[in-house]
Formats: sequence, C-alpha cells, structure tokens
Amino acid sequence: MRKKIVAGNWKMNMDYTSGVSLFSEIINMIKDEVRGDQEVIVCPPFVHLHSLVQLANQHPKISIGAQNCHQADAGAYTGEISAAMIKSIGSEYVILGHSERRQYFAESNELLAKKTDMVLKNGLKPIFCIGETLEERNSNIHFDVIKTQLAEGVFHLTAEDFANVVLAYEPVWAIGTGVTASPEQAQEVHAFIRKEIESRYGDAIADNTTILYGGSCNPGNAPELFSQKDIDGGLIGGASLKSRDFTEIVKVFN
Ligand code: G3P
Repeated sequence: MRKKIVAGNWKMNMDYTSGVSLFSEIINMIKDEVRGDQEVIVCPPFVHLHSLVQLANQHPKISIGAQNCHQADAGAYTGEISAAMIKSIGSEYVILGHSERRQYFAESNELLAKKTDMVLKNGLKPIFCIGETLEERNSNIHFDVIKTQLAEGVFHLTAEDFANVVLAYEPVWAIGTGVTASPEQAQEVHAFIRKEIESRYGDAIADNTTILYGGSCNPGNAPELFSQKDIDGGLIGGASLKSRDFTEIVKVFN
C-alpha cells in the first residue's frame, strides 16, 4: 500500500523563533492525528532543519525535509548546501524541481537528475516536482511537458532507486494563485503520471509510488482532491504556514 503524505513547503518564510513556534504548534495539533500508512513532512528553510529535526524526533510519522541541495558532493560552491550536510543533521527528504527553482534558478531536468542522484546517494528521499505552466496547458502540451520532466529528471534511475522517490504534480498556474486544479484535472494528470511510471518500471512500482498534488491546496478542497484514486496527498505551500489549516489537511486521511 503506497504511503499517504501531507508535506508542507514553507518556502522562504519564518525566522528562527517563528519557525520553532509554528512547528511546535503543528506537532501538538497533529501528533495524535497521523495514522496508519500516513506520513507528515515539513520542509522549512535550511536554518530550521536541525532544530525541527530535534523536535520531530519523538514523532516517528513526522519527518523533516529540505527544499533544495547542490548536485556536488562538496567543494567551492559558496552559499550552497550539500545532500550530505542535510543527511548529517537528520533530515530525510529533499524537495527537488520545484517550479520556483526551475523558473528563478534555471534548474533544468538534466541538473535535477544530478541532484536526484546526489539525494539518493546520501540516503535521502527526493520529493520530485513536475507540472506545466498555464501557457503549456492552454497549448494542450501539458502531458508532453510532464512526460519529458519524468523522462529526463527521474526515469534514468534503477527501479530500486526510483522506489524511494515521491512525486509531486504541481500545475504552475495553481501555485500561490488560489486557483486550484479541479479534482478531475488533477486526477487525469496523476493517472497519466502513474501510467508513465508503469510503462517504465512496471505496475508494482507504479502502484507503490506516492504522487502528491500541490497548488493552492487547502482544508476546503483537500478532501475531494485526496479522495481521487491517484492522488496520495498534498505538497502544501501557503496553508502549511497556518498550523490549524495544515492540521485540517493532515486530518483528511483520518
Ligand atoms: O510546493 C508547494 C507549493 O508550490 C504550493 O503552494 O501556496 O499554492 O499551496 P501553494
């Protein structure tokens, strides 16, 4: 049975004190709500990783993830953070391929494939983001875009390595806009993604891959989105910065 995951992407928000306070609120609200095959992941800015890992340690179903890492092992890359460093402080996941990094930092599928390799090499799990822009959807090439992002970003992996990948479908036009994909739109793409995985790795891996939806997910729309056959949870932005909203989304799987 594939894992149900609700992951919060804090993006570039929360100073140190606010971050610890928010995460403490979240833990207190969700600690008895995360059940069965569900997992909650919180991905704060780097400055919070170590402190949140300490707070999460007593809760086996609550994990901490980073929002990025460099593709090299180590070296003269001023300002960068390596996968090994993220691993060394007890973090378990790394978001890769977020549309904001593809857009603002020109992260290509080729670069993201290298980052994916580095994350897996260090025993971490990638939350690999894919999704089309509004222009691409309006041009009806969104399936081609997603097919390419998968093929060039993660389909080089062996089946064994791919089994550690969490995918997140994030239509760019739904991120931060309040315009959420309809359950039907999201399910259609998630089903396509699962079919692509099946073609590449077979039905067992496809059935066991967690595919998250991200893009203006909130307590009001999460229940119908998460009830879709191929949607296994959400990658939550804005709503993850509000402890009550994030808790309500976590509780959807109860
Ligand atoms: O990574 C999740 C994020 O891109 C979604 O943001 O604010 O639309 O939930 P938001």
